[in-house]
Amino acid sequence: MEEELELLKNNSDWSLHCFDCGREFSEEPITSKCDCGGVLELTLDAGNPKLEDFEGTGVWRYSRVLPIEDGITPVTINEGNTPLIRLDKIATDTGLKLFVKNEGQNPTGSFKDRGMTVAVTRAKSIGARTLVCASTGNTSASAAAYGSRGGMKVIVLIPSGKIAGGKLVQAVIHGASVIRVAGDFDAALEIMMSQASVRKDLYVVNSVNPFRIEGQKTGAFEIFEQLGRRVPDYVILPVGNAGNISAYWKGFSELKKWGISNKTPRMIGVQASGAAPLADAFLRGEETVVRWKNPETVASAIRIGNPVSWKKALKAVIDSKGQLLTVSDQEILKSQRDLASKEGIFVEPASAAPLAVLPYLREVIDKNALVVFVCTGSGLKDQNVVPIDPEKIPIISDVKELSQFL
Ligand code: F0G
Repeated sequence: MEEELELLKNNSDWSLHCFDCGREFSEEPITSKCDCGGVLELTLDAGNPKLEDFEGTGVWRYSRVLPIEDGITPVTINEGNTPLIRLDKIATDTGLKLFVKNEGQNPTGSFKDRGMTVAVTRAKSIGARTLVCASTGNTSASAAAYGSRGGMKVIVLIPSGKIAGGKLVQAVIHGASVIRVAGDFDAALEIMMSQASVRKDLYVVNSVNPFRIEGQKTGAFEIFEQLGRRVPDYVILPVGNAGNISAYWKGFSELKKWGISNKTPRMIGVQASGAAPLADAFLRGEETVVRWKNPETVASAIRIGNPVSWKKALKAVIDSKGQLLTVSDQEILKSQRDLASKEGIFVEPASAAPLAVLPYLREVIDKNALVVFVCTGSGLKDQNVVPIDPEKIPIISDVKELSQFL
């Protein structure tokens, strides 16, 4: 059905430049990186869009402000349009209005699908046949799914250490070639980028890809609409390679630029304390981020020591008067359990990290603040973090035995 939607009308002009050195690109570099090592930024000249211009549902509802030319059929699996859920058990003793944007309800179970639908549509439109990425798991699952949908070959590099089993299963079932790298995510990304820069036929779909960021910014648009055209006071997200926080900031900033909203939220990025190169630098007041060797955290999705988009993320946090914070693995797991057992929302550890800053936040923010936690991925992919011994689950053989449990 989705191929038949009339989505691609009235698209906008856009241009690419290097976020670091400012160089303008007349053609999209296939690696999405500048020769200086900087990441690219896409600037959109969308005129003055209005909410009424957005029609349909999900990510492609916002096609008017996405950089895809008219007449191109999106590679879509109906991503976006994820629920915004009011928390009604956690922190009810405060006046805080807390919401979870449950990105785990995207087609492959994470927010990556928002960006992947746009990047893969772009890849297809320029005739790319092979998609590549390095991944802690969710990007590989999403690239594999959208690549299969778009009829493209997909090669994913994953760190040889633990990636969540469910994510690996997804990459395999969708038909990607999966290669393990002896090292962490940062090593995998480095190998993949250096290969892509010499081959020129491998289209990179990591979050350095500016089309991915464009897709991911639609999460901000949805939050604004779901809140009844209101901008939250705080938006809190987990930070790994630092693409998503930059994407949400772009989305909220564009709404304000277009006159659709009249303010922007404070962006709060959260890293696990064992993998916190960006938050650590921020908290020390330093202006550069140095790579952490051997990052370690139970939140495997954000086990990253060298966040590629750190400059963009830092700017988002500073411009929004936000913060970068760290939380321990123990706090992450407690938040994951609280969300699941009190609110019915099962997210993966990385996605529980934002909620773990709540005890800190409630002390320092306005008591009536409107706060959105972006819960980036489903808990179903990473079951090992919830240790269960099936042998310890009671077993019965007839109805009489059941009565003792009732
Ligand atoms: N949450 C989840 C569930 C993730 O999978 C990721 C990143 C993030 C948060 C962090 O987002 O990198 O934009 O700051 N996962 C990547 C991957 C790295 O390969 O799946 P970011």
